[in-house]
Amino acid sequence: MTNVFFNSDIGDDERRNGLYNGELYVYTPSTGTKALIAVAREICEELFAPCHPAEAQHHLPVEKFSEILKELKPRFIHDPRCKEIIPLLLQEHGCDLDRTYFDVPRLRTAAAGDYLNSGLAYAFKPHRDTWYSPPMCQLNWWLPVYDIEADNGMAFYPHYWNRAIRNSSNEFNYQIWNETGRKQAHHQGKEDTRVQSEALEELELNPELRLVTEPGGMIVFSAAHLHGTVPNTTQRTRISIDFRTVHLDELETDTGAPNLDSHCTGTTIRDYLRGTDRTQLPEEIIACFDESTCPGFESTEETATVHV
Ligand SMILES: [Fe+2]
Repeated sequence: MTNVFFNSDIGDDERRNGLYNGELYVYTPSTGTKALIAVAREICEELFAPCHPAEAQHHLPVEKFSEILKELKPRFIHDPRCKEIIPLLLQEHGCDLDRTYFDVPRLRTAAAGDYLNSGLAYAFKPHRDTWYSPPMCQLNWWLPVYDIEADNGMAFYPHYWNRAIRNSSNEFNYQIWNETGRKQAHHQGKEDTRVQSEALEELELNPELRLVTEPGGMIVFSAAHLHGTVPNTTQRTRISIDFRTVHLDELETDTGAPNLDSHCTGTTIRDYLRGTDRTQLPEEIIACFDESTCPGFESTEETATVHV
């Protein structure tokens, strides 16, 4: 059973505990989420002008659309306002900024129909984020920038919370992906050929759970939840923001959601910044998660070639 809580005011410790048990938390827009989507809107509207960003795909050749995404996404990720707003947003939602670490927010687009489904607009098939090398306590925070519908948002598949899936995460190494996959994203054409961490069995995608919030509404879920971008059968491009957090309590004890089927290597542990002062995690914590600094780890030629 998966419980979905709306505007719950329970404390963060209890909420994290629930999230590690597959619960989902949904919030209506707050000052912080509104500020974050305002930054995204400002950049989107400047670059897609005179089109509305969610409708631009109907007015632009796909090459031009891709060019805009190439500029849009890094501009949003690196906008200094984001690093200021996210801690405020977390604080509003009860997080202890001294022990909560976050990564940079991503801006995602899911174009309608088959206009563009690769590279920077890659439609993420159902997956767990834990197949991409985070600690098992990673939490994901997701919010739409413009109005969404059930048919252009994302879906959860809660029946897989307790069910392992055969997948290719053993071929995924975050450090190697960073070196190769991300750079290649800019060069993808209509078909995406990058190695993804993905399910290797036919998934049962019914039942599914689609949560539709207003812009700036937010869904919080464990990185271990199976979720994905739904096929966008609407007329509008979905534009959303997501970022992740980890908490020192769970990192110190290496706890979090149960690991049923993640076998990736590498680690995202260096990506998270402390809510208070944007510093990285303590070196001793990083060392526990980064096998390259652990005795016995050898980076082999074979490992390196599997992923490129
Ligand atoms: Fe994801």
